[in-house]
Amino acid sequence: MAKPTTAFTCTACGATHRKWAGKCDACGAWNSIIEEAPLSQGPGRGLGTLKGKAVPLSGLATQEAPPPRAMSGIAELDRVLGGGLVPGSAILVGGDPGIGKSTLLLQAAAAFANSGQQAIYISGEEASAQVRMRAQRLGLGDAPVRLGAETALRDILTTLDAERPDVAIIDSIQTLWSDQIEAAPGSVSQVRATAHELVTFAKRRGTAVILVGHVTKEGQIAGPRVVEHMVDTVLYFEGERGHQFRILRAHKNRFGPADEIGVFEMTGGGLSEVANPSALFLSERGEPSPGSAVFAGIEGTRPVLTEVQALIAPSTLASPRRTVVGLDSGRVSTILAVLEARCAIPFAGLDVFLNVAGGMRVNEPAADLAIAAALLSAREDSALPADCVLFGEISLSGALRPVAQAENRLKEAQKLGFSRAILPTATKVEGLAGMRINRAPDLTSFVGETFGA
Ligand code: TYD
Ligand code: MG
Repeated sequence: MAKPTTAFTCTACGATHRKWAGKCDACGAWNSIIEEAPLSQGPGRGLGTLKGKAVPLSGLATQEAPPPRAMSGIAELDRVLGGGLVPGSAILVGGDPGIGKSTLLLQAAAAFANSGQQAIYISGEEASAQVRMRAQRLGLGDAPVRLGAETALRDILTTLDAERPDVAIIDSIQTLWSDQIEAAPGSVSQVRATAHELVTFAKRRGTAVILVGHVTKEGQIAGPRVVEHMVDTVLYFEGERGHQFRILRAHKNRFGPADEIGVFEMTGGGLSEVANPSALFLSERGEPSPGSAVFAGIEGTRPVLTEVQALIAPSTLASPRRTVVGLDSGRVSTILAVLEARCAIPFAGLDVFLNVAGGMRVNEPAADLAIAAALLSAREDSALPADCVLFGEISLSGALRPVAQAENRLKEAQKLGFSRAILPTATKVEGLAGMRINRAPDLTSFVGETFGA
């Protein structure tokens, strides 16, 4: 077979294609495919003869205790990591430019260093003086972090190999270049190769390596998704512009629960932890108003209450608007279809706007009932009781399915002053005094009981 001279690679997800296309079939991104020299395999690199050496194999039994995890003391970060940093692990921290990744990781580096870990921070984006100035501004000038500004992978690896730190932070992976690869920094092949080298270094030397990756909008720079499969833990730093809240969310974690979140607030003095996110997300709630429903959710191991807000308006468009922020829009379409088909409540000719207050993203199917309640409350122009939370999954038949951890959700709601809950009939709840619980088997009876329709 003739060897391809070039490959077409998607900069968003790293998939390779035989020819250029405007849209990547693998991840659906537009304008992300670029032509690149393939990572290949020069002549003679194939497996023509078996000249490798045998890999030493061993059993599963071990006497060694697992190495202790390093705690930063930033509780929100330690929890998202699954209970501290695992030595020798590779962590990717992705996020939009300007969201606060460098700030978070500089604070993390200082926290690890202050708790006795050897921490090295390599900046490929800013000069040492700039990082130092930021550290001063954050009040971290005295933390024993060792700082370097470099983009050449070979020099970085040499430094790390000599220093053998406990934690190495590389900001960012898109600025690094390896002299082994003939491609510009930030290209898929450079990002992949440099990340691979650093992950290998982490495993071999027991240094925890944290890689920063910018989420890119235009196609010329490879995004963090390209290295997701190589690392142990993938964290994304999210937030809405205009909100000071930032959420660090675990998307994948070999050493802890995925979907765990840490909540931070961006202040003039850096990121500060938010210990009680429910109170924060509900803080802007005023008088009970139509279109608002409080969802008792679970993020990772922690219950979090959020407010789902809906607005319904007559539409002048042939296909009415469905604007959804912070929720899965496919899920919302399904709920609208179920309301129409099973409960005979049409939304045709109406614009629908849905939003989660505070810039939070909710991915749980358990939010279905709260979404439906917000939609109905907006449509009927009738407010839900102010002391009421909801959760439950809606199936296509219109039945309400129970969801996990009902008691944790209810306890959190109770703690925040809610005294009523609407949930699926089959939910098992024991021992919650003082909470009025309304159960509904399906969406139709929920609509009948709550809105008297
Ligand atoms: P930064 O950490 O540089 O973002 P990233 O590394 O993800 O690109 O954060 C930049 C933003 O954070 C910038 O808009 C200013 C803001 N910021 C604060 O509000 N307070 C602070 O103390 C710091 C250091 C930054
Ligand atoms: Mg940065």
